[in-house]
Amino acid sequence: MEKMLLVSGRSHQTLAQDICQHLKTKLAPVEIKNFADGETYFRILRNVRNKDVFLIQSLVPPINENLVELLIAIDALKRASAGRINLVCPYLAYSRQDRKASSREPITAKLVANLITKAGADRMLTVDLHTDQIQGFYDIPVDHLLAYPYFADYLLRKEYSPLVIVCPDIGSVKRNRKMAELINAPLAVIDKRREAHNRSEVMNLIGEVKGKIAVVVDDLIDTGGTMANAAFLLKEKGAKKVIICGTHALLSGEACRKLVECPAFSVLISDTIPLPEEKKIKKIKVISMAPILGRAITRIHEGKSIGALFIWRKEKRRF
Ligand code: R5P
Repeated sequence: MEKMLLVSGRSHQTLAQDICQHLKTKLAPVEIKNFADGETYFRILRNVRNKDVFLIQSLVPPINENLVELLIAIDALKRASAGRINLVCPYLAYSRQDRKASSREPITAKLVANLITKAGADRMLTVDLHTDQIQGFYDIPVDHLLAYPYFADYLLRKEYSPLVIVCPDIGSVKRNRKMAELINAPLAVIDKRREAHNRSEVMNLIGEVKGKIAVVVDDLIDTGGTMANAAFLLKEKGAKKVIICGTHALLSGEACRKLVECPAFSVLISDTIPLPEEKKIKKIKVISMAPILGRAITRIHEGKSIGALFIWRKEKRRF
């Protein structure tokens, strides 16, 4: 494979620039604009023939706009004879609808996979999928990076103790057990029941949090209801402090207000989604995924293992 080339759509230019900084390279120039009727125009302004192209486009709001831009960019690269098109999609939207929960519903996670593969992507790199099984919706290789080791790393450096890892719902138990094992902390589970889309209700707590620093870990914070309700419940159950960790911080609607007003002491998020000025509340601490994305891009280009990025180095107490 010839030289590596990085290209970015408009969805998250800051992250694309940060990745470039880690790779000591620059984004290839592109022209992206919208026609008067809203149609998207994308043109890459340099030769990509036989190049190993990494297209960076996170599916952040406005999600539909950014999805179409992503598909058009892949099409442009394919028709320009790129050697390999590697999609770097740190936040893969539409993943929550990964099955038919009620009759006559779509499965958008599969639809998006079909669109991306049909458009011509050869492989995909992403962060914290809503469920691991989504990888199977793609008939191309999917490299799945995880944010929890970086949250764990941060908590260990701060020397918070005693910790308990809290699952905000039953679905997150498998992922969070790995984090609990990594930092040698017990696990607690919230039995959450959702009565309508974007409305959550905390029900019960399974496990012990009294006198502990409770760390609630989820793949995303959307309206903030799940995390805020969890924080109230954990305080009520005697947690000494509550820390929220959410990889993809959509922070829709009133989410920031809910996070400010809830008893959580700190909110750790990643930078897979841009954080506008008005959402930069004091409690938020951003852990950048740019270094790990950069290292993964290099390894994919060189045909090296991605799993090796997640080996805990005991002597340094970090990855
Ligand atoms: C649900 O399965 C997800 O993992 C999140 O818990 C959920 O999407 C968060 O949504 P919200 O912030 O609106 O409660």
